[in-house]
Amino acid sequence: MNLPIPMRPHPSAADAPGDRRVGVGTAHAKAILFGEHAVVYGAPAIAVPLHQLEVETAIRPTPRAELRIESELFAGTASTAPELLRPVITAVRAALASVGSAGEHVQLRVRSAIPHGRGLGSSAAVAAAVARAAADLAGVELGPEEFHEIVQRAERVAHGNPSGIDARAVAAAGPIRFHRGRVSTTGVGAPLTFVLADSGAPGSTAEAVARVRERRTADPAGMDRAISQLSDLAEGSLLDLELGDRSALGARMLEAHELLGRLGVSTVKLDALVDAAHAAGAHGAKLTGGGLGGCVLALADSEDEAEHIALALRAAGAPRTWTTTVAAA
Ligand code: PMV
Repeated sequence: MNLPIPMRPHPSAADAPGDRRVGVGTAHAKAILFGEHAVVYGAPAIAVPLHQLEVETAIRPTPRAELRIESELFAGTASTAPELLRPVITAVRAALASVGSAGEHVQLRVRSAIPHGRGLGSSAAVAAAVARAAADLAGVELGPEEFHEIVQRAERVAHGNPSGIDARAVAAAGPIRFHRGRVSTTGVGAPLTFVLADSGAPGSTAEAVARVRERRTADPAGMDRAISQLSDLAEGSLLDLELGDRSALGARMLEAHELLGRLGVSTVKLDALVDAAHAAGAHGAKLTGGGLGGCVLALADSEDEAEHIALALRAAGAPRTWTTTVAAA
């Protein structure tokens, strides 16, 4: 016997009660391997994707003329949301406008494994996943620049004047070189296993960027020298990446951490975690992202070695660690 095939609700029934459509999007975290802070002054920077740390978003039409958010940080309407949610709200509004959805009759659900305020691109990743969910709901494809602008809108609310590296890195499948707004992919000669360790303290990127600016005003020659050395480390790392030379990359990471300390964005805890990773056999380690808290990134020789390094980092006081492998490409 032939059973009738149930009809799907008509897609033009937007906002109608019982509208069961949903748009979904995902994005991953990122870690800056070289060039954070220096990138703000026009230097190149290298970022790697952290596919193990993902955010998932879902946008559903609702009958109410309001934007509702359900996340681990907050559940309620946009008008009652705390300051922390402003970048997300900006992303939803920008994404809905971009895909041609008028009004705010939607509910956004966010499920994120990316810790907030740890220099891992959480705000950019949420905005990227929101842009993808809005496009999915509307059944349209966003162009890469349109997509980038949505994420940057949210990033401006989160960080003031972001270089754009986070917005590019959370949307890229592999490592990228970012220079003055331009992005290119980099070759990776061998798999690279990184251990990330949370220092347990949040770091404000805006505060860290402001601190570097102040130091540069006080000591322009000294700071420009450090920035130029960070720039050379980033540029030189491209060949190491291509060759899969872990030992050379590790040495550069240690040097970069030292220079970031000179810029004023390391902390006693971050220095201690870098030392602990190195002592446990990491090729190198450094703070990643804005600093003044956040995470340390350590390069292991293998996945087995990574386990050993992660244990050492936790023994040195890191409340959480993650291991991630960037595939050869
Ligand atoms: O968002 P974070 O903490 O990963 O930092 C981004 C990198 C900075 O160079 C410190 C700032 C920027 O806008 O590039």
